Amino acid sequence: MALTSLLYISRSMIAPSEAAGVVAKIVATAHACNPAMGLTGALLFTGTYFAQVLEGESAAIDMLMEKVRHDPRHDQLLVVDRSPLDQRHFSDWSMAYFGPSQFVARHVTRLLNDPSPAETRRGAEWLKELLNEFSSGPATALPSSVNAGPILG
Ligand SMILES: Cc1cc2nc3c(=O)[nH]c(=O)nc-3n(C[C@H](O)[C@H](O)[C@H](O)COP(=O)(O)O)c2cc1C
Repeated sequence: MALTSLLYISRSMIAPSEAAGVVAKIVATAHACNPAMGLTGALLFTGTYFAQVLEGESAAIDMLMEKVRHDPRHDQLLVVDRSPLDQRHFSDWSMAYFGPSQFVARHVTRLLNDPSPAETRRGAEWLKELLNEFSSGPATALPSSVNAGPILG
């Protein structure tokens, strides 16, 4: 089964005082729904921006992105990378980072302001690496069936 990886960034529309509760709800939804859709990946939240990487079958990613794209909890959604994937980099679905980060926000702002091909490629690589570092790690310890099948259990 062909795997695809998608990375997007977006601007949060959540009031800072409500961020913890609202993001916790998003995380709970993702934990409940993503495994059944064969989706792995990670979400990062800087207080101002989101970055999310999703891995799975193209159709499953499209189905989820259709919902996420119209979610009023964020706007300015920009897909910065969509590429075929040999092997999953995320073992499950996780919150990679939650908290204020001017360092990350600066990079995301640059990407949103200058989505040129060169900047987008550079930014996407950097963000994917960051999400990998912050998340629960690579999928190498998983049985290979996880990479092949749509159900993660
Ligand atoms: C930044 C962000 C990331 C999200 N990530 C996911 C996700 O990984 N999985 C998911 O099921 N919903 C995610 N959601 C929530 C969806 O937009 C949507 O609310 C949810 O899938 C429930 O949709 P439904 O009530 O139409 O089934 C995310 C929302 C936001 C704002």
